[in-house]
Amino acid sequence: MTPAVTPAISRAETPTLIRAFQGERTQQRPVWFMRQAGRSLPEYRAIREGTTMLQACVTPELAAEITVQPVRRHQVDAAIFYSDIMVPAKLAGIDVDIVPGRGPVLATPIRDSRAIANLPELTQDALQPIADGVSASVELLGDTPLIGFAGAPFTVASYLVEGAPSRTFPHTRALIAHNEAAWHTLATWVAEISLHFLQTQVNAGAQAVQLFDSWVGALDVTNYQKSAAPYSSHILRDATLAHIPRVHFGTNTGHILPQLHQAGASVIGVDAETALTTANTVLGGAVPLQGNINPALLSGSWEALEQHTREVLAAGQSAPGHVVNLGHGVPATTDPDVLTRLVALIHSISDPLGS
Ligand code: CP3
Repeated sequence: MTPAVTPAISRAETPTLIRAFQGERTQQRPVWFMRQAGRSLPEYRAIREGTTMLQACVTPELAAEITVQPVRRHQVDAAIFYSDIMVPAKLAGIDVDIVPGRGPVLATPIRDSRAIANLPELTQDALQPIADGVSASVELLGDTPLIGFAGAPFTVASYLVEGAPSRTFPHTRALIAHNEAAWHTLATWVAEISLHFLQTQVNAGAQAVQLFDSWVGALDVTNYQKSAAPYSSHILRDATLAHIPRVHFGTNTGHILPQLHQAGASVIGVDAETALTTANTVLGGAVPLQGNINPALLSGSWEALEQHTREVLAAGQSAPGHVVNLGHGVPATTDPDVLTRLVALIHSISDPLGS
Protein backbone atom coordinates (compact mmCIF):
# COMPACT_ATOMS: atom_id res chain seq x y z
CA MET A 1 0.00 0.00 0.00
CA THR A 2 1.31 3.43 -0.90
CA PRO A 3 1.57 5.63 2.16
CA ALA A 4 -0.57 8.73 2.04
CA VAL A 5 1.44 11.75 1.05
CA THR A 6 1.19 14.58 3.50
CA PRO A 7 1.57 17.82 1.56
CA ALA A 8 4.57 19.70 2.90
CA ILE A 9 3.47 22.85 4.64
CA SER A 10 6.10 25.41 3.78
CA ARG A 11 7.14 27.73 6.56
CA ALA A 12 6.09 30.66 4.40
CA GLU A 13 2.49 29.57 4.92
CA THR A 14 2.66 29.95 8.69
CA PRO A 15 2.13 33.63 9.52
CA THR A 16 5.17 35.38 11.05
CA LEU A 17 3.05 36.20 14.08
CA ILE A 18 2.41 32.54 14.80
CA ARG A 19 6.05 31.55 14.20
CA ALA A 20 7.22 34.18 16.71
CA PHE A 21 4.52 33.14 19.20
CA GLN A 22 5.74 29.54 18.82
CA GLY A 23 9.24 30.57 19.84
CA GLU A 24 11.00 31.20 16.54
CA ARG A 25 13.24 34.19 16.05
CA THR A 26 11.92 35.84 12.91
CA GLN A 27 13.92 38.06 10.59
CA GLN A 28 11.04 40.52 10.34
CA ARG A 29 9.37 41.14 13.67
CA PRO A 30 5.59 40.79 13.66
CA VAL A 31 3.72 43.70 15.26
CA TRP A 32 0.19 44.52 16.41
CA PHE A 33 -1.12 46.97 19.00
CA MET A 34 -3.44 46.43 21.94
CA ARG A 35 -6.52 48.66 21.31
CA GLN A 36 -5.46 49.12 17.68
CA ALA A 37 -9.17 49.15 16.78
CA GLY A 38 -10.72 52.17 18.35
CA ARG A 39 -10.89 55.85 18.82
CA SER A 40 -7.50 56.77 17.35
CA LEU A 41 -8.98 55.91 13.93
CA PRO A 42 -11.29 58.40 12.13
CA GLU A 43 -12.89 55.50 10.22
CA TYR A 44 -13.74 53.90 13.60
CA ARG A 45 -15.31 57.09 14.95
CA ALA A 46 -17.33 57.39 11.72
CA ILE A 47 -18.66 53.82 11.68
CA ARG A 48 -19.46 53.93 15.43
CA GLU A 49 -21.60 57.05 15.14
CA GLY A 50 -25.04 56.52 16.66
CA THR A 51 -24.16 53.13 18.19
CA THR A 52 -22.96 52.32 21.68
CA MET A 53 -19.78 50.34 21.99
CA LEU A 54 -21.56 47.28 23.38
CA GLN A 55 -24.11 47.40 20.54
CA ALA A 56 -21.26 47.51 18.01
CA CYS A 57 -19.69 44.47 19.70
CA VAL A 58 -22.80 42.32 19.14
CA THR A 59 -23.46 43.48 15.57
CA PRO A 60 -21.34 40.97 13.61
CA GLU A 61 -20.77 42.97 10.38
CA LEU A 62 -19.88 46.07 12.36
CA ALA A 63 -17.54 44.23 14.75
CA ALA A 64 -15.83 42.57 11.77
CA GLU A 65 -15.38 45.83 9.88
CA ILE A 66 -13.88 47.54 12.96
CA THR A 67 -11.61 44.52 13.56
CA VAL A 68 -10.16 44.83 10.05
CA GLN A 69 -9.77 48.65 9.95
CA PRO A 70 -6.33 48.82 11.65
CA VAL A 71 -4.97 45.99 9.46
CA ARG A 72 -5.94 47.87 6.29
CA ARG A 73 -4.55 51.16 7.54
CA HIS A 74 -1.35 50.15 9.37
CA GLN A 75 -0.38 46.80 7.79
CA VAL A 76 -0.09 45.23 11.24
CA ASP A 77 0.57 41.47 11.31
CA ALA A 78 -2.57 40.53 13.23
CA ALA A 79 -6.06 41.69 13.97
CA ILE A 80 -7.56 41.46 17.44
CA PHE A 81 -11.26 40.83 17.55
CA TYR A 82 -13.20 44.01 18.34
CA SER A 83 -15.04 43.35 21.58
CA ASP A 84 -14.47 43.99 25.27
CA ILE A 85 -13.57 41.97 28.34
CA MET A 86 -17.04 42.84 29.76
CA VAL A 87 -19.00 41.52 26.75
CA PRO A 88 -19.48 37.96 28.14
CA ALA A 89 -20.97 39.39 31.38
CA LYS A 90 -23.23 41.66 29.32
CA LEU A 91 -24.34 38.71 27.17
CA ALA A 92 -25.09 36.73 30.34
CA GLY A 93 -27.47 39.52 31.35
CA ILE A 94 -25.38 41.65 33.75
CA ASP A 95 -26.37 45.32 33.58
CA VAL A 96 -22.98 46.74 32.55
CA ASP A 97 -22.30 49.68 30.31
CA ILE A 98 -19.07 51.04 28.86
CA VAL A 99 -18.95 54.74 29.61
CA PRO A 100 -16.79 56.68 27.12
CA GLY A 101 -13.67 58.07 28.75
CA ARG A 102 -14.28 56.01 31.89
CA GLY A 103 -14.76 52.30 31.24
CA PRO A 104 -17.11 49.56 32.47
CA VAL A 105 -19.79 50.73 34.92
CA LEU A 106 -22.46 48.53 36.56
CA ALA A 107 -25.96 49.64 37.55
CA THR A 108 -25.53 47.58 40.74
CA PRO A 109 -22.10 46.29 41.83
CA ILE A 110 -21.94 42.55 42.50
CA ARG A 111 -20.33 42.17 45.90
CA ASP A 112 -22.53 40.38 48.40
CA SER A 113 -22.99 36.63 48.78
CA ARG A 114 -26.58 36.74 47.53
CA ALA A 115 -25.76 38.60 44.29
CA ILE A 116 -22.82 36.26 43.71
CA ALA A 117 -24.95 33.16 44.35
CA ASN A 118 -27.45 34.38 41.74
CA LEU A 119 -25.11 35.05 38.81
CA PRO A 120 -26.82 34.18 35.50
CA GLU A 121 -25.79 31.55 33.00
CA LEU A 122 -24.11 32.49 29.70
CA THR A 123 -25.79 30.42 27.00
CA GLN A 124 -24.39 29.30 23.66
CA ASP A 125 -27.22 31.20 21.94
CA ALA A 126 -26.20 34.44 23.56
CA LEU A 127 -22.68 33.97 22.16
CA GLN A 128 -23.89 33.58 18.56
CA PRO A 129 -23.15 37.23 17.60
CA ILE A 130 -19.54 36.66 18.72
CA ALA A 131 -19.22 33.50 16.60
CA ASP A 132 -20.69 35.38 13.63
CA GLY A 133 -18.49 38.44 14.19
CA VAL A 134 -15.35 36.29 14.33
CA SER A 135 -16.31 34.30 11.19
CA ALA A 136 -16.97 37.53 9.30
CA SER A 137 -13.64 38.98 10.51
CA VAL A 138 -11.67 35.90 9.46
CA GLU A 139 -13.28 36.04 6.03
CA LEU A 140 -12.33 39.71 5.55
CA LEU A 141 -8.80 39.16 6.89
CA GLY A 142 -7.68 36.53 4.39
CA ASP A 143 -4.11 35.54 5.32
CA THR A 144 -3.80 37.87 8.31
CA PRO A 145 -4.33 35.96 11.57
CA LEU A 146 -6.98 36.94 14.09
CA ILE A 147 -6.20 37.02 17.81
CA GLY A 148 -9.10 36.18 20.10
CA PHE A 149 -9.15 37.49 23.66
CA ALA A 150 -10.90 37.49 27.00
CA GLY A 151 -10.48 39.11 30.38
CA ALA A 152 -8.95 37.09 33.21
CA PRO A 153 -11.05 36.42 36.32
CA PHE A 154 -9.28 38.89 38.65
CA THR A 155 -9.58 41.87 36.29
CA VAL A 156 -13.17 41.18 35.15
CA ALA A 157 -14.33 40.34 38.69
CA SER A 158 -12.76 43.56 39.98
CA TYR A 159 -15.00 45.57 37.60
CA LEU A 160 -18.06 43.59 38.72
CA VAL A 161 -17.26 44.04 42.41
CA GLU A 162 -16.16 47.70 42.32
CA GLY A 163 -18.96 48.61 39.90
CA ALA A 164 -16.65 51.07 38.10
CA PRO A 165 -12.96 51.44 37.21
CA SER A 166 -10.78 51.61 40.33
CA ARG A 167 -7.08 51.95 40.94
CA THR A 168 -7.07 50.47 44.44
CA PHE A 169 -9.80 47.76 44.34
CA PRO A 170 -11.00 48.19 47.96
CA HIS A 171 -14.17 46.08 47.62
CA THR A 172 -12.36 43.34 45.69
CA ARG A 173 -9.63 43.15 48.34
CA ALA A 174 -12.28 43.03 51.09
CA LEU A 175 -14.19 40.25 49.36
CA ILE A 176 -11.03 38.18 48.88
CA ALA A 177 -9.98 38.73 52.51
CA HIS A 178 -13.33 38.28 54.27
CA ASN A 179 -15.52 36.11 52.08
CA GLU A 180 -13.31 33.55 50.40
CA ALA A 181 -16.23 31.32 49.43
CA ALA A 182 -18.02 34.15 47.60
CA TRP A 183 -14.80 35.17 45.83
CA HIS A 184 -14.33 31.56 44.74
CA THR A 185 -17.88 31.42 43.35
CA LEU A 186 -17.46 34.74 41.52
CA ALA A 187 -13.99 34.00 40.09
CA THR A 188 -15.17 30.54 38.98
CA TRP A 189 -18.18 32.11 37.22
CA VAL A 190 -15.98 34.67 35.42
CA ALA A 191 -13.53 31.91 34.43
CA GLU A 192 -16.42 29.97 32.86
CA ILE A 193 -17.88 32.89 30.89
CA SER A 194 -14.46 34.14 29.71
CA LEU A 195 -13.58 30.60 28.66
CA HIS A 196 -16.81 30.21 26.68
CA PHE A 197 -16.15 33.57 25.03
CA LEU A 198 -12.63 32.40 24.04
CA GLN A 199 -13.76 28.96 22.88
CA THR A 200 -16.37 30.63 20.68
CA GLN A 201 -13.68 32.79 19.05
CA VAL A 202 -11.28 29.87 18.54
CA ASN A 203 -13.99 27.64 17.09
CA ALA A 204 -14.87 30.45 14.66
CA GLY A 205 -11.28 30.85 13.44
CA ALA A 206 -9.10 32.83 15.88
CA GLN A 207 -5.53 31.50 15.56
CA ALA A 208 -4.13 32.71 18.88
CA VAL A 209 -5.59 34.10 22.10
CA GLN A 210 -4.67 36.72 24.64
CA LEU A 211 -5.90 36.64 28.23
CA PHE A 212 -5.92 40.18 29.65
CA ASP A 213 -5.33 40.42 33.39
CA SER A 214 -4.69 44.15 33.19
CA TRP A 215 -4.93 44.96 36.90
CA VAL A 216 -3.62 41.76 38.51
CA GLY A 217 -0.26 43.47 39.18
CA ALA A 218 -2.04 44.91 42.24
CA LEU A 219 -1.63 41.48 43.94
CA ASP A 220 1.56 40.22 45.55
CA VAL A 221 2.88 36.76 44.65
CA THR A 222 1.10 34.98 47.50
CA ASN A 223 -2.29 36.53 46.79
CA TYR A 224 -1.84 36.05 43.06
CA GLN A 225 -1.18 32.33 43.54
CA LYS A 226 -4.12 31.91 45.89
CA SER A 227 -6.81 34.20 44.50
CA ALA A 228 -6.12 34.66 40.78
CA ALA A 229 -3.89 31.94 39.31
CA PRO A 230 -6.25 28.94 39.76
CA TYR A 231 -9.05 30.71 37.87
CA SER A 232 -6.78 31.95 35.07
CA SER A 233 -5.39 28.42 34.77
CA HIS A 234 -8.88 27.04 34.29
CA ILE A 235 -9.02 29.13 31.10
CA LEU A 236 -5.42 28.83 29.86
CA ARG A 237 -5.24 25.06 30.39
CA ASP A 238 -8.50 24.29 28.61
CA ALA A 239 -8.15 21.65 25.88
CA THR A 240 -9.64 23.96 23.19
CA LEU A 241 -6.61 26.24 23.56
CA ALA A 242 -3.91 23.62 24.03
CA HIS A 243 -2.56 23.80 20.47
CA ILE A 244 -2.63 27.53 19.85
CA PRO A 245 -0.49 30.37 21.26
CA ARG A 246 -1.84 31.72 24.57
CA VAL A 247 -0.57 35.20 25.47
CA HIS A 248 -1.03 36.39 29.04
CA PHE A 249 -0.75 40.12 29.72
CA GLY A 250 -1.09 42.45 32.66
CA THR A 251 0.38 45.78 33.76
CA ASN A 252 2.82 46.21 36.67
CA THR A 253 3.42 42.47 36.66
CA GLY A 254 7.25 42.51 36.91
CA HIS A 255 7.04 40.69 40.27
CA ILE A 256 4.76 37.86 39.06
CA LEU A 257 5.97 37.07 35.51
CA PRO A 258 6.94 33.44 36.29
CA GLN A 259 3.55 32.88 37.97
CA LEU A 260 1.70 34.32 34.96
CA HIS A 261 3.60 31.88 32.78
CA GLN A 262 3.00 28.92 35.09
CA ALA A 263 -0.72 29.67 35.01
CA GLY A 264 -0.67 28.10 31.54
CA ALA A 265 0.43 30.85 29.14
CA SER A 266 2.77 30.08 26.23
CA VAL A 267 3.71 33.74 25.58
CA ILE A 268 4.09 36.58 28.09
CA GLY A 269 2.96 40.11 27.27
CA VAL A 270 5.27 42.60 29.00
CA ASP A 271 4.25 46.13 29.98
CA ALA A 272 6.47 49.20 29.55
CA GLU A 273 7.74 49.10 33.17
CA THR A 274 9.77 45.89 32.74
CA ALA A 275 12.62 45.63 30.19
CA LEU A 276 12.28 42.69 27.78
CA THR A 277 15.80 41.56 28.72
CA THR A 278 14.77 41.43 32.40
CA ALA A 279 11.54 39.59 31.59
CA ASN A 280 13.50 37.10 29.51
CA THR A 281 15.99 36.45 32.32
CA VAL A 282 13.24 36.05 34.93
CA LEU A 283 11.50 33.56 32.64
CA GLY A 284 14.67 31.52 32.16
CA GLY A 285 15.13 32.47 28.50
CA ALA A 286 12.43 29.96 27.60
CA VAL A 287 9.31 31.99 26.86
CA PRO A 288 8.43 34.03 23.74
CA LEU A 289 7.68 37.64 24.64
CA GLN A 290 5.30 40.31 23.42
CA GLY A 291 5.80 44.04 23.97
CA ASN A 292 6.67 46.65 25.05
CA ILE A 293 6.95 50.07 23.36
CA ASN A 294 6.01 52.79 25.82
CA PRO A 295 2.65 54.23 24.64
CA ALA A 296 3.56 57.60 26.19
CA LEU A 297 6.19 58.07 23.46
CA LEU A 298 3.57 57.88 20.68
CA SER A 299 2.75 61.54 21.27
CA GLY A 300 6.34 62.82 21.53
CA SER A 301 9.06 63.39 18.92
CA TRP A 302 9.52 60.79 16.19
CA GLU A 303 13.26 60.61 16.92
CA ALA A 304 12.67 59.59 20.55
CA LEU A 305 10.05 57.02 19.48
CA GLU A 306 12.35 55.58 16.80
CA GLN A 307 15.30 55.26 19.18
CA HIS A 308 13.14 53.64 21.86
CA THR A 309 11.63 51.24 19.30
CA ARG A 310 15.09 50.19 18.11
CA GLU A 311 16.04 49.49 21.74
CA VAL A 312 12.88 47.41 22.28
CA LEU A 313 13.58 45.34 19.15
CA ALA A 314 17.21 44.80 20.23
CA ALA A 315 16.05 43.72 23.71
CA GLY A 316 13.47 41.40 22.16
CA GLN A 317 16.26 39.50 20.41
CA SER A 318 17.23 38.04 23.79
CA ALA A 319 13.97 36.07 23.86
CA PRO A 320 13.19 32.85 21.96
CA GLY A 321 10.56 34.73 19.94
CA HIS A 322 9.38 38.34 19.92
CA VAL A 323 6.09 39.89 18.84
CA VAL A 324 6.23 43.68 19.00
CA ASN A 325 3.41 45.51 20.77
CA LEU A 326 2.93 48.46 23.10
CA GLY A 327 3.33 48.15 26.85
CA HIS A 328 -0.42 48.86 27.10
CA GLY A 329 -3.24 50.00 24.78
CA VAL A 330 -3.12 52.70 22.09
CA PRO A 331 -4.17 56.01 23.73
CA ALA A 332 -7.31 57.51 22.14
CA THR A 333 -5.43 60.71 21.21
CA THR A 334 -2.73 58.91 19.17
CA ASP A 335 -2.12 60.23 15.66
CA PRO A 336 -2.85 57.16 13.49
CA ASP A 337 -0.13 58.19 11.01
CA VAL A 338 2.44 57.69 13.77
CA LEU A 339 1.26 54.08 14.19
CA THR A 340 1.46 53.44 10.44
CA ARG A 341 4.99 54.86 10.34
CA LEU A 342 5.94 52.84 13.42
CA VAL A 343 4.82 49.57 11.79
CA ALA A 344 6.93 50.39 8.71
CA LEU A 345 9.94 51.12 10.93
CA ILE A 346 9.52 47.85 12.86
CA HIS A 347 9.20 45.89 9.61
CA SER A 348 12.39 47.51 8.27
CA ILE A 349 14.56 46.35 11.21
CA SER A 350 15.88 42.87 10.56
CA ASP A 351 16.97 40.36 13.21
CA PRO A 352 20.25 38.99 11.75
CA LEU A 353 19.75 35.67 13.56
CA GLY A 354 16.09 35.38 12.60
CA SER A 355 14.67 33.07 9.97
O1 CP3 B 1 -8.17 46.77 19.57
C1 CP3 B 1 -8.25 45.98 20.53
O2 CP3 B 1 -7.36 45.82 21.38
C2 CP3 B 1 -9.47 45.06 20.60
C3 CP3 B 1 -10.56 45.52 21.34
C4 CP3 B 1 -10.52 45.68 22.84
C5 CP3 B 1 -11.30 46.66 23.49
N1 CP3 B 1 -11.24 46.45 24.82
C6 CP3 B 1 -12.09 47.67 22.80
C7 CP3 B 1 -12.44 48.89 23.54
C8 CP3 B 1 -9.90 44.93 23.83
C9 CP3 B 1 -8.91 43.79 23.69
C10 CP3 B 1 -10.37 45.42 25.08
C11 CP3 B 1 -10.01 44.82 26.37
C12 CP3 B 1 -10.26 45.58 27.61
N2 CP3 B 1 -11.37 46.27 27.97
C13 CP3 B 1 -9.37 45.59 28.70
C14 CP3 B 1 -8.05 44.89 28.73
C15 CP3 B 1 -7.02 45.66 28.00
C16 CP3 B 1 -6.49 46.84 28.76
O3 CP3 B 1 -6.68 47.95 28.26
O4 CP3 B 1 -5.90 46.64 29.82
C17 CP3 B 1 -9.95 46.37 29.71
C18 CP3 B 1 -9.33 46.69 31.05
C19 CP3 B 1 -11.23 46.78 29.24
C20 CP3 B 1 -12.26 47.59 29.95
C21 CP3 B 1 -12.44 48.86 29.23
N3 CP3 B 1 -13.18 48.99 28.08
C22 CP3 B 1 -11.85 50.13 29.50
C23 CP3 B 1 -10.96 50.44 30.68
C24 CP3 B 1 -12.27 51.01 28.49
C25 CP3 B 1 -11.83 52.45 28.25
C26 CP3 B 1 -12.88 53.44 28.51
C27 CP3 B 1 -12.55 54.72 27.78
O5 CP3 B 1 -13.40 55.19 27.02
O6 CP3 B 1 -11.43 55.26 27.99
C28 CP3 B 1 -13.09 50.27 27.61
C29 CP3 B 1 -13.74 50.77 26.40
C30 CP3 B 1 -13.18 50.28 25.13
N4 CP3 B 1 -12.87 48.99 24.84
C31 CP3 B 1 -12.93 51.07 23.98
C32 CP3 B 1 -12.49 50.19 22.97
C33 CP3 B 1 -12.16 50.53 21.55
C34 CP3 B 1 -13.17 52.56 23.88
C35 CP3 B 1 -14.63 52.89 23.89
C36 CP3 B 1 -15.21 53.24 22.54
O7 CP3 B 1 -14.57 53.13 21.50
O8 CP3 B 1 -16.39 53.64 22.55
